[in-house]
Amino acid sequence: MKRLAITFAALLAALPATAQDANDTTAGELIAKFAAEAGITPDAEVGKAFFLATQTGGGADTPSCSTCHTADPKAMGEARTGKPIEPMALSVNPKRFTDTAFVDKWFGRNCDSVLGRECTAAEKANVLAYYSSL
Ligand code: HEC
Repeated sequence: MKRLAITFAALLAALPATAQDANDTTAGELIAKFAAEAGITPDAEVGKAFFLATQTGGGADTPSCSTCHTADPKAMGEARTGKPIEPMALSVNPKRFTDTAFVDKWFGRNCDSVLGRECTAAEKANVLAYYSSL
């Protein structure tokens, strides 16, 4: 048990560096990948509606993506802890969506918080198309 805890701590310590250094993808590549997986043509308007929608299934204090990211993806957001979140819109924050592991990690956490489930490939393609369209 103790050994497991140490390994986990080491993994956590390694995470931020990995997340910042990876730069292994682009928003365009991710949109294409998720759209192919879902068999859809990405639609920024559908992504916008998803981003702004009030959802059920997740935590009562996180009903929407916009709860933390605000209704304007070009603006700064704020996590539950009060920690600032850089804007999501690619036009004002070009560093967005360049690290596959980081994107997967946060889709995992955030979709669970808001929807109580994974986001579908279609939801991911559409919301990334929205962030990239602004
Ligand atoms: C509880 C607050 C919270 C909610 C609700 C939330 N997010 Fe996030 N999101 C964060 C935080 C914190 C980060 C990581 C910090 C950062 O990227 O600046 C993040 C990061 C992300 C990333 C990674 C961005 C990148 O640069 O790769 C994506 C994608 C994302 N969120 C999408 C969503 C979507 C879609 C929803 C709605 C289903 C959502 N978020 C709801 C807090 C939230």
